[in-house]
Amino acid sequence: MGGFRFLTAGESHGPTLGVILEGIPAGLPLTAEALAVDLARRQRGYGRGARQAIEQDEAEILGGVRHGLTLGSPILLLVRNRDWENWTRVMQVAPLSEAEAEELAALATDGNKRATPVTRLRPGHADLAGALKYGFDDVRNVLERASARETAARVAAGGVARAFLRELGMECWSFTAEVGGVALDPARATRSRDEADASPLRCPDPEAEERMIARIDEARSNGDTVGGVFEVVVHGLPIGLGSYVQWDRRLDGALAAAIASINIVKGVEFGLGFEQTRRFGSAVHDVIEGRGADGHWIHRTNNAGGLTGGVTNGEPLVVRGAVKPISTLAKPLPSADLVTGEAVDKAHYERSDISVVPAAGVVGEAMVMLTLVQFVLEKFGGDSLVETKDNLDRYRVRIARPLSATGARGTDEAGSGGDD
Ligand SMILES: Cc1cc2nc3c(=O)[nH]c(=O)nc-3n(C[C@H](O)[C@H](O)[C@H](O)COP(=O)(O)O)c2cc1C
Repeated sequence: MGGFRFLTAGESHGPTLGVILEGIPAGLPLTAEALAVDLARRQRGYGRGARQAIEQDEAEILGGVRHGLTLGSPILLLVRNRDWENWTRVMQVAPLSEAEAEELAALATDGNKRATPVTRLRPGHADLAGALKYGFDDVRNVLERASARETAARVAAGGVARAFLRELGMECWSFTAEVGGVALDPARATRSRDEADASPLRCPDPEAEERMIARIDEARSNGDTVGGVFEVVVHGLPIGLGSYVQWDRRLDGALAAAIASINIVKGVEFGLGFEQTRRFGSAVHDVIEGRGADGHWIHRTNNAGGLTGGVTNGEPLVVRGAVKPISTLAKPLPSADLVTGEAVDKAHYERSDISVVPAAGVVGEAMVMLTLVQFVLEKFGGDSLVETKDNLDRYRVRIARPLSATGARGTDEAGSGGDD
């Protein structure tokens, strides 16, 4: 079995989150400091809750790296939960002794919320389905893993992917495109990438950002929450990642799954996305203007978002994720009790964010980059970074040459079909 894969582990209030990445080539420079950058970006953003003040995420590199360089062996990362110290007994890994169980029960009787089993189901969360599926009578056993705290582990892994892709000349970032129905105006998106990154909502349009912030404030004062849209953009991808030859080798499918896997994402678009359905074809498809002087192919527009037929086409990759409003409301919705099955006035409330679009965008970057690593390695392979680079460089040179010079036999016959 070859290829690249990664897995995360850990609970929201457990001692640590963990990630194993397998398949990153040897010789990649990697430091904990580099991984801390995206972890900090995930924690920022106007509308985040109190937990972010407790956690200052750092990834410890505990395997797969020696003297600052990857070894080609699995990479093990830990992101410790600082909040764990407030949850040691509730989230204890070892079986509870009789005395410890009594201590917890006494705390619950005294009204300690952490120690009290969670049974009032939270609408919009995995609580009901998870408890029934795994046979729990305490929703804590579900929410601890279903919580988006897990995305810190993905972002740590995404930092490794970023380091690898950067070595290959591929660069990924994201921004907030919409919050609570307020969309940025591309014509007013005057902020540079760094300026946008430093702004409260990581939004390139300052005027729209002010109105987005007002929507978050409105939600906060009503005990409510808001969603939005993030956009991930990747520059520097060569033509030819992914394939049209089989459904599960299409890069668009893999990216859609990766983005939809983010807790809170309810839709994915590429390029012009759903807007394409409202236009005529002549106003959608990207005219191919030809090969530029440096050999790269030029499209007049990038409505396809850099992917055609499930394959990168040399334009920047543009993927958007639709973020639903946070499910946990300060003014909780009515719900039902897991154990009694009876309706209750208010769902359980666990300290919560109000809006997480910028943070979800950083998770989106991580998922896009991790997916790209898989497809880059599938196409270019390499047990060491040097080998991957060599393979990519040779391919880049080859596809920049006129077709007659590549030895490929081109056909230029007009097609006659109409099915496709
Ligand atoms: C960065 C990030 C932070 C989140 N913070 C919260 C939160 O504080 N409260 C909450 O109810 N949901 C939060 N969520 C979303 C829930 O984890 C998610 O809605 C829930 O697990 C149900 O999954 P689903 O929305 O994919 O159906 C967050 C999601 C992300 C990506």
